Amino acid sequence: MKILGIESSCDETAAAVVENGRHLISNVVNSQIDIHSAFGGVVPEVAARSHLEVILPVIDKAVQDAGGWNEIDAIACTTMPGLIGSLLIGSLTARTLALLKNKPFYPIHHVEAHVYANFLDGDAPRFPLLALIVSGGHSQIVLFRDHGDYELIGQTADDAVGEAFDKVAKILGLPYPGGPSIAKAAEHGDPLKYSFPKAKMAGKYDFSFSGLKTAVLRAVQSECGKDHTYPSNALSALLTPAQCNDFAASFQHVAVETLVDKVIAAFDEFAPKSVVIAGGVAANQELRRQLAARLPIKITFPDPQFCTDNAAMVATLGYYVATGSEPTDPRDVELFPSISMTKTAWKLN
Ligand code: KG4
Ligand code: ZN
Repeated sequence: MKILGIESSCDETAAAVVENGRHLISNVVNSQIDIHSAFGGVVPEVAARSHLEVILPVIDKAVQDAGGWNEIDAIACTTMPGLIGSLLIGSLTARTLALLKNKPFYPIHHVEAHVYANFLDGDAPRFPLLALIVSGGHSQIVLFRDHGDYELIGQTADDAVGEAFDKVAKILGLPYPGGPSIAKAAEHGDPLKYSFPKAKMAGKYDFSFSGLKTAVLRAVQSECGKDHTYPSNALSALLTPAQCNDFAASFQHVAVETLVDKVIAAFDEFAPKSVVIAGGVAANQELRRQLAARLPIKITFPDPQFCTDNAAMVATLGYYVATGSEPTDPRDVELFPSISMTKTAWKLN
């Protein structure tokens, strides 16, 4: 069964075709990073307009690369969560195509789909499966008992970890998106130069990253001999490149260690057969290094291109949804811009 996946929930317009939830046949991603970097973050209206401009050529290329519409058995499209204007462009296009081409339509939960980047090619993870989902909008630990049967066991109380990378990068004057910029600067910095606190949470597997971001800001102010009255966007000009690298490395070290501490504790309690990481921050090499070093089982990592937003993960999850549930009438699709993973988006029959 070949599924066409369509993704437009944030700032990537993407389409891909995946066979049987395993084999990637075609994959097209149009990133808007260049458009939004001028604003230092995603501007929702600009994102929606850009999706509108490229969505048809993006889908067309993915379908043609897979051999044409006759090859496509069903359409799976992200309908939750995400920016409402962005979700609307992808889902209206997907619904229209489902009607025109007479293909079954399956709504997809974006965060759940991130986990499915791990099912593409290679060895499939085994259940029970512990997933650390870390992106610009989400920081969660989810225990999957099976496809479509999962439980949220921990999440962030405030900022997502990717958001913390992005905000700290701004303080340090590093370019957007902050995650890769921090990782690059950190390669030349001392991770133990500055010690930042780890938040103590009531929930054993919950996170908090806003305090860490503020701790970095205070440390930068103190290093520059300034107080909170000094504009934070002017601080980075006072830092030497070496100081900037040390701040990036020290922040990344603590942010990653916080995530890994929780994953190891959850591993000890739930004894999963596999552990996977997903979402944009899963591309981070320091996260991969610390996890591989501390987990008692072997962990394999998704290709970084499938950690950030893409449609291959949507088409992969689409296969399991299509084989385990009824299609949705394309004329009757609801969007959920802020639904979390506490509610299973689909149920196996
Ligand atoms: O999954 P994603 O593409 O979009 C969301 O659904 O949020 O994740 C984007 C986030 C951004 O915050 C970005 O800074 C972060 O992932 N990111 C990274 C790396 N690459 C992307 N964070 C740390 N290290 C990286 N190498
Ligand atoms: Zn995402």
